[in-house]
Amino acid sequence: MASLVAILDVKGKSLIQRSYKDDVPPSCIERFLPLVLDMEEENVQVTPCFSDDGINYMHIRHNNLYLLALSKRNSNAAEIIFFLHRLCSVLTEYFKELEEESIRDNFVIIYELLDEMMDFGYPQTTESKILQEYITQESHKLELQARPPMAVTNAVSWRSEGIRYRKNEVFLDVVESVNLLVNASGNVIRSEILGAVKMKCYLSGMPELRLGLNDKVMFESTGRAARGKSIEMEDVKFHQCVRLARFENDRTISFIPPDGEFELMSYRLSTPVKPLVWVEASVESHRGSRVEYMVKVRGQFKRRSTANNVEIYVPVPDDADSPKFRAAAGSVVYAPEKSAFVWKIKQLGGGRDYLMRAHFGLPSVRNEELDKRAPISVKFEIPYFTVSGIQVRYLKIVEKSGYQALPWVRYITQNGDDYVLRTISDAKSSSIIAPI
Ligand SMILES: *[C@@H]1O[C@H](CO)[C@@H](O)[C@H](O)[C@H]1NC(C)=O
Repeated sequence: MASLVAILDVKGKSLIQRSYKDDVPPSCIERFLPLVLDMEEENVQVTPCFSDDGINYMHIRHNNLYLLALSKRNSNAAEIIFFLHRLCSVLTEYFKELEEESIRDNFVIIYELLDEMMDFGYPQTTESKILQEYITQESHKLELQARPPMAVTNAVSWRSEGIRYRKNEVFLDVVESVNLLVNASGNVIRSEILGAVKMKCYLSGMPELRLGLNDKVMFESTGRAARGKSIEMEDVKFHQCVRLARFENDRTISFIPPDGEFELMSYRLSTPVKPLVWVEASVESHRGSRVEYMVKVRGQFKRRSTANNVEIYVPVPDDADSPKFRAAAGSVVYAPEKSAFVWKIKQLGGGRDYLMRAHFGLPSVRNEELDKRAPISVKFEIPYFTVSGIQVRYLKIVEKSGYQALPWVRYITQNGDDYVLRTISDAKSSSIIAPI
């Protein structure tokens, strides 16, 4: 049996992965290609199965992809290699070409297929014909439960009959907003994540949708082991189309969607969040007649992510004038109506940091207390990333006419209305920023 199945690009980076057992850490995936390259360098023939450090690596190659299975225990390698070949042909059947792009475009369906084809690490149905039948059968079951009463009572007040689209598509956006407060010593005093699942449905007829998330309560209530990370949502609220009884019963999110744009659900997480975009400033006042700021920003998220449209609002005295700015990246403008200057950075990479300096004249002498200052506030958007780790495991779309509909999923994490840092210190007492 396999503990983990992953599809890797030509550089050995995982495009999609599914853990079935947690005895093999996902970090082993990254070791796969270096091991293969080492063998090639030493002119050792690279076999489909090899072991390293107690982990069995089993793989096949297809186009520019590696299909990789990892296991710890003694497993039937032939069976797993056979499974990988089946996976490859099932995916090829679904997407015509199996390549990097088709994986990126279809990862919801691939997760779903990986779920159906492997259960707790044991290969299940791998015949694509049977898989397709299985999915249809299940959908018939759903229709029997839900459709006849709807048709009789016309109870779907939020959707009218006879909607037609030439191309049936669903767009699903998972948007998480982070609120936090960092105090002057750099400690996170409070933080929360406000999440929303927003949909745009362009679907014909009366489709039945079923959404699977990596919801911790769902995994626990169904007695299934969470594969990979699961999250615990609080204050979950649904659009009226979601069958609440069903959700309460088995945590299934099933619904007939309204047409077009709507918010399917919202949730909150009070788990502590570290500041994704970190900002700190030091202020040097020159005899109360002019003031200098040095501001540092750092992207505290994974290197492969990028924060877009970063805007940093640094407060200055109301009557500050004659602004001068120098920034290592982006642009700075004075916003006297907000008593702040705004540093805008189009793209901030994970792990990157930048400095900027500002200089203002002060018409009147004053002695501002440190803790009377307004905090720094920050805006940003990080695409392809959710801070909670929420994942769409699948989105099933079933309509009695049997059309194929494409689900598109996007993730984004952004600042909430209240993302503020009190990390402004006086330059002389500052231990945060070393002089440069
Ligand atoms: C910031 O918070 C930490 C932890 O709550 C606390 O120990 C520290 O004194 C606080 N700093 C300031 C300047 O309030």
